Amino acid sequence: MSVQIAPSILSADFAALGDAVASVERGGADLIHVDVMDGHFVPNITIGPPVVKSLARVAQRPLDVHLMISEPDRYIDAFAAAGASMMSVHVEVLPHLHRTVHAIKALGVKAGVVLNPSTPVVALEEIAGDVDFVLVMSVNPGFGGQRFIPRSEVKVAAVRALLDRSGNSGAPIEIDGGIDETNAARVVAAGARILVAGSAIFASGDPEQATRALKAAAQAALTGPVAR
Ligand code: DX5
Ligand code: ZN
Repeated sequence: MSVQIAPSILSADFAALGDAVASVERGGADLIHVDVMDGHFVPNITIGPPVVKSLARVAQRPLDVHLMISEPDRYIDAFAAAGASMMSVHVEVLPHLHRTVHAIKALGVKAGVVLNPSTPVVALEEIAGDVDFVLVMSVNPGFGGQRFIPRSEVKVAAVRALLDRSGNSGAPIEIDGGIDETNAARVVAAGARILVAGSAIFASGDPEQATRALKAAAQAALTGPVAR
């Protein structure tokens, strides 16, 4: 499994999202990460299906839609119709997670499950065999530009072990929050294969080059020893 880079447009200029997508795609972005926030599950409010629909028109890469909302079941059809290729939902808000995961898959969209930093890995125990990917939050969701929580590395390794034990060794782990060139290799060594990065890419002044550099740092972990 190679490493994929998923720039988060949360830190881009919302008046020029098309340009933002084009620049990270030139830099080798594999996915475009779209953060949906409702002002309820998280304090912030961002974007909804109409913006995803416009992004789908210009993006060459699949849209990875991260739903930080209290009632995702009400909106998964709309995000699928808008053009999401991947959709992830938080275990913290879903009493019927099994139903939701299968509803997303039935729409032809890859289904991911997200763990907040304080949510234990065991919360995935019964669903690990069903998911297309797992997203480990390495900050508390809601804002870009926060600092990486170091314990996330151990958590990624534990999720990897659970997925393998559940017969789902093909399902990748995505990591989101505070990822940059300094920690990319370490999270890949722990087992992450999709790296989300917002501020490290869009606050850098050169998103194309920052995407390229992050990808190189991440891929180095697959080919050589990782500095600790
Ligand atoms: C945080 C979002 C992230 C965010 C990451 O709630 O889920 O995707 O954009 O931003 P950075 O990379 O700046 O932590
Ligand atoms: Zn996100």
